[in-house]
Amino acid sequence: MMKPVFLIGYMGCGKTTLGEVLARQMGLRFIDLDEFIEARQGMSIVKIFDEMGENRFRELETEALHEVAAMTDVIVGCGGGTPCHCDNMALMNRAGITVWLTTSPERITDRLLLPEQKCKRPKINTLPSDEVLSLVVKELEERAPFYSQSRLLFDSTDIETARATERTARRLAAILKQED
Ligand code: S3P
Repeated sequence: MMKPVFLIGYMGCGKTTLGEVLARQMGLRFIDLDEFIEARQGMSIVKIFDEMGENRFRELETEALHEVAAMTDVIVGCGGGTPCHCDNMALMNRAGITVWLTTSPERITDRLLLPEQKCKRPKINTLPSDEVLSLVVKELEERAPFYSQSRLLFDSTDIETARATERTARRLAAILKQED
């Protein structure tokens, strides 16, 4: 039995892409925290932000996090803001292994500007494309004090193809096996 692994980091850093492959390779279950909240509420994240506001979303997010933190044998892909609210970083560090996935602001921006990515993000979907990079840089700076409390730091740049993602996930799996 393994304690939960929490993948954290800014939007577009690869928490879901890498997490799904990592979970499959390690024989664990992948839980995307945003999808978990959407399923519970029967509403998309964009709609929750629109209709209930960000503060209510953060409450729902912390509730969901408490639930998954009590599970075993799961890889949890957190939301980009999860570590920065309600003492969530301390909760995750108590319950399991936190991993900060890092990649450059430019790479993050390229990923977030893909149409299928952009429409899922309440804070990005209405922003002009040429303003995304400066938002990413600003928020990364504000969030670094939270993200940097994670137990492990892992470079998640190399996930642009399926093969690269497999390779990168294998590297992370090897590190996690030593940590458990
Ligand atoms: C958010 C990131 C999103 C989602 C919500 C808010 C943020 O998760 O939780 O849109 O504040 O950075 P992803 O990092 O999975 O996009």
